[in-house]
Amino acid sequence: MHETVSILGIAGSLRRGSYNRFALRAAQKLAPRGVAIDIFELDGIPLYNQDQEKEPPAKVTDLKARIRAADAVLLVTPEYNYSIPGVLKNAIDWASRPYGDSAWAGKPVAVMGASIGALGTARAQYHLRQCFVFLDMDPVNQPEVMIGGAQQRFDPQGNLTDETSRKLITELLGALAEKARSRAKETA
Ligand SMILES: Cc1cc2nc3c(=O)[nH]c(=O)nc-3n(C[C@H](O)[C@H](O)[C@H](O)COP(=O)(O)O)c2cc1C
Repeated sequence: MHETVSILGIAGSLRRGSYNRFALRAAQKLAPRGVAIDIFELDGIPLYNQDQEKEPPAKVTDLKARIRAADAVLLVTPEYNYSIPGVLKNAIDWASRPYGDSAWAGKPVAVMGASIGALGTARAQYHLRQCFVFLDMDPVNQPEVMIGGAQQRFDPQGNLTDETSRKLITELLGALAEKARSRAKETA
């Protein structure tokens, strides 16, 4: 690992005015010294098709390479019908295949999310954490960053103005960077 911890940030919404993409942008700005967040946009990834696993679309090949090159991953999930959006699950599935060639295995990961509901993606986050088990990822447990009532926590330009959320995101990034550094030491 280089001195700078490289984090790949992925938001599970394609919406231009997405609170989750805004939250990821906020994380980019809040990243502590020695931590850099690079964003991967999910638009253009076709629906997963096992027939294409051996020769996946170029965007999927790129996604897998970017996950592998990163020291850690930050997933920023909306909540759709109490779960994770298909857009995010689709990307997770692609990058986990073919069997035995998953890009996720062993990867330090943190999760956060924003929703207009009061629980701030809690239910979606716990579904996402269930995927981490089979994917054999290395998740940060605390802090949990659940931005409820998102419409009140960003300004019209999409800047995260809520101080509690900003503090929690900063702590989450610190914990993720710490995990990535310890993992790099263990595997050196
Ligand atoms: C299909 C769909 C299902 C939704 N289900 C939930 C839900 O279960 N819980 C919730 O808090 N918000 C739910 N919402 C509202 C989202 O929190 C809101 O649309 C949010 O802005 C989505 O994230 P984004 O801004 O990053 O696109 C749902 C929205 C959509 C489009």
